[in-house]
Amino acid sequence: MSLTTRSRTIARLQRGQETRDGDGVKLTRIIGTPMLPALDPFLMLDEFGSDEPTDYVGGFPDHPHRGFETVSYMLAGRMRHGDNHGHSGVLGPGSVQWMSAGRGIVHSEMPEQEEGLMWGFQLWVNLPASDKMKPARYQEFAPESLPVITAGEGVQVKIIAGELQGVRGPIEGVATQPVYWDVTLAPGARFTAPLPATHQGFIYVFGGDLVAGPEDARKPVGRSWLGVLGEGEELELVAGTEGARLILVAGVPLNEPVARYGPFVMNTQEEIQQAFVDYREGRF
Ligand code: CO
Repeated sequence: MSLTTRSRTIARLQRGQETRDGDGVKLTRIIGTPMLPALDPFLMLDEFGSDEPTDYVGGFPDHPHRGFETVSYMLAGRMRHGDNHGHSGVLGPGSVQWMSAGRGIVHSEMPEQEEGLMWGFQLWVNLPASDKMKPARYQEFAPESLPVITAGEGVQVKIIAGELQGVRGPIEGVATQPVYWDVTLAPGARFTAPLPATHQGFIYVFGGDLVAGPEDARKPVGRSWLGVLGEGEELELVAGTEGARLILVAGVPLNEPVARYGPFVMNTQEEIQQAFVDYREGRF
């Protein structure tokens, strides 16, 4: 038996696709495309980022969700959300909303600004069959509630979910035991990120560039590239000369059948049909 810790490789590199969603919001879809339809338990990853108001003012008017979780993480700008259960609020820069749609919500996500930069991510995380029909649940945190730790020289990690060096992010009670870190690396900084072997995940670089993977299998990962992680217990990152900024996201795969139609993600086609009926009849 080997006592060495297995270092994760970058098993695959993928760029996103430019698209529009909601009422014409310009975004880059990175997971949830024909090239990368899903990465269990993750169903979608969008990056939206523009200082051109026509790219975002339309927002995401009322739409339903059932059977999974939407995670919004704002880097810049302000987004107002509201749902048919009376929950509402504004997400500002650096804040996160982990929304478990469960059996159903109808919500809107609209820009709370008419100009300036709007930048962030939306991630869709699948729910296990046993959680898909639970009541909707929100976990929402302002930036001051998200711990930032120094994990080595020139390495800053903002912990949204998961644990690093004994510090836990505030997101709790999610079946897929997610890790969601916003990592800032100074030029040339090295970070060996511990990640449970049970987890499947990715990095997405949104500033600068880096190389990732074990010493003998390093792969360059540039701005706007997603790296799918191979198996192992840790991931080595070395920032380039400009430094790097990335999200590192991982979770326990569900290994369940996925029946997906637009905003509904269930296990069977029958459940999708039922979702349409329930939505039409106002049961969300
Ligand atoms: Co939504």
